[in-house]
Amino acid sequence: MNQVFCAIDTPHLPDALALIEELRGKVGGIKLGLEFFLAHGAAGYCAVAEKGLPIFLDLKLHDIPNTVAGAVKSLLPLQPAFITVHASGGAAMMRAAADAAQKKTKLLAVTVLTSLDKTDLSAVGQEANTQTQVVRLARLAKENGMDGVICSPEEISALRTALGKDFILMVPGIRPAWADANDQKRTLTPRQAIGAGASYLVIGRPITKAEDPAQAAQRIAAELA
Ligand code: C5P
Repeated sequence: MNQVFCAIDTPHLPDALALIEELRGKVGGIKLGLEFFLAHGAAGYCAVAEKGLPIFLDLKLHDIPNTVAGAVKSLLPLQPAFITVHASGGAAMMRAAADAAQKKTKLLAVTVLTSLDKTDLSAVGQEANTQTQVVRLARLAKENGMDGVICSPEEISALRTALGKDFILMVPGIRPAWADANDQKRTLTPRQAIGAGASYLVIGRPITKAEDPAQAAQRIAAELA
């Protein structure tokens, strides 16, 4: 199976299930986020899981260590392949999440949200250069039991160098040469991203908004093969 997790960014359950059915065998897994999970909860999650693809549950947990550990424990029965937590929640929070996960799911840390620019970061008291901050948080994540991080295409090389070959880099912001960029600004193609050191790719609209999603997914799979 390929390294692509298709982002299902719709709150509409029947649409999501029909799309996932079409994508079976053509993508490596499905990414569900807050919008889907808060609308449909565990029942919606289980309906997707029945399709048989690994699920990346992107809930970006961020709270005190005890609460995040409890949240991870509550999610374990769903058997997600990946869960996300915010690295800025700190070492103890990530350690508590890792202990709670008992290696039954992989934990990925979110470093600096790519929606934040230098001015936004400065406004919340974070003056470090963004790339420096991303690498710092990724190191902290690795030291505290995280299996990997989410990163943008332009951070792949620096993180691969800083964190070694086994640390998981899950990368959104991917655009095949034939797809629209939409609102993504600094993209790589699937092949370029894997070539640069990405472990997995998150791809949404180039598949979900394609005239023929199954064909788009198949084309990406062929480019990666
Ligand atoms: O449609 P598209 O391929 O842009 O979707 C990418 C997915 O990855 C979306 O779910 C989006 O929220 C997520 N994402 C992103 N950029 C980040 C972090 C997450 O596009 N920096």
